[in-house]
Amino acid sequence: MAEEYAINIDNVVKKFGDFTAVNGVSLKIKKGEIFGLLGPNGAGKSTTISMLLGLLTPTSGRIIINGTDMKNDPAEARTHIGVVTQETVVEPELTAEQNLMIFGRLYHIPKSEMEKSIEFALELSDLVQFRKVYAGTFSGGMKRRLEVSKSLMHTPDIILLDEPTTGLDVQNRTQIWNLLREINKKQGVTVLMTTQYLEEADQLCDRIGIIDHGKLIALGTPDELRKSIGLSSVIEVTADKEELQKVASIFKKVGLEPTVLNNRVTAPGGNNATKKIETLLSSLSTAKINVRNVSMHEPTIDDVFLKLTGSEARDTSGDYKGRAMVSRGR
Ligand SMILES: Nc1ncnc2c1ncn2[C@@H]1O[C@H](COP(=O)(O)OP(=O)(O)OP(=O)(O)O)[C@@H](O)[C@H]1O
Ligand SMILES: [Mg+2]
Repeated sequence: MAEEYAINIDNVVKKFGDFTAVNGVSLKIKKGEIFGLLGPNGAGKSTTISMLLGLLTPTSGRIIINGTDMKNDPAEARTHIGVVTQETVVEPELTAEQNLMIFGRLYHIPKSEMEKSIEFALELSDLVQFRKVYAGTFSGGMKRRLEVSKSLMHTPDIILLDEPTTGLDVQNRTQIWNLLREINKKQGVTVLMTTQYLEEADQLCDRIGIIDHGKLIALGTPDELRKSIGLSSVIEVTADKEELQKVASIFKKVGLEPTVLNNRVTAPGGNNATKKIETLLSSLSTAKINVRNVSMHEPTIDDVFLKLTGSEARDTSGDYKGRAMVSRGR
């Protein structure tokens, strides 16, 4: 029977000394899927990707790529995989074309096919007119596109991307999404990506896995995940940091259970959510609290993530790489 799964991670553990970075993860990614792996900083996403690439060996458990056990034949397993790592790796002193050529040689693309492969990558990344331009002069988005298309030159059936859109603006992010959608649709490439942008996972991914402290704590389609937290609506108030605790206490007064995070207070709307938001608004106004925004929305992947991990995927507090702290009002 043809192998159904592009990637089969079977009860994988990775320890660094006494520290367990990946703690018994099992995950099957179907061929042709776009899969998003989400998790707070230090959750174990990059460690998992490194094991899929054979750069790290699992402490225990099995990884099977397209039916090939990584342990038995890592070289064969790797031929199926293209990779875009968390750091940018284009050579600034080389042109777009030269960057692709070097990579093509690395992957032993035959001379006779090199020109075609380069053309394919330049078209895919929409960089045809920049082929002779030094990559060092490219914008962040162009570099990322070059990297993604480069990783597809040896026509892998799986592409792994570790935070491919971090730091890019919306327009560049959208271009990367389109590129991934295109290769997924046209070439049937299976996509496994990690991201900090939850709306990205929501829009792009067929299924999402949430990993926290090395454990897979949720798995499903974006819709399934939204439903899984059992919320019909979420009430959200954004305000200046100094005002947040006051806002939280007013939430409690009107019968809402607040969660305070970064610059916002959220709570499940529950029954009579509309009534509650009205009371909330008038209480906030009576207390003369300066709020920036009040909204009620259907649960998003952000809400799912917050509920399950107690933190935000992306640290928006301005602290460097810190795990965003949550205080739960009760
Ligand atoms: N080589 C290593 N030696 C020791 N600890 C490590 C090593 N690599 C990673 N870790 C630890 O394992 C945990 C998981 O790291 P990992 O890089 O997989 O997280 P991540 O989910 O990719 O986080 P981020 O969102 O910050 O990229 C972290 O606590 C990290 O410090
Ligand atoms: Mg990482």
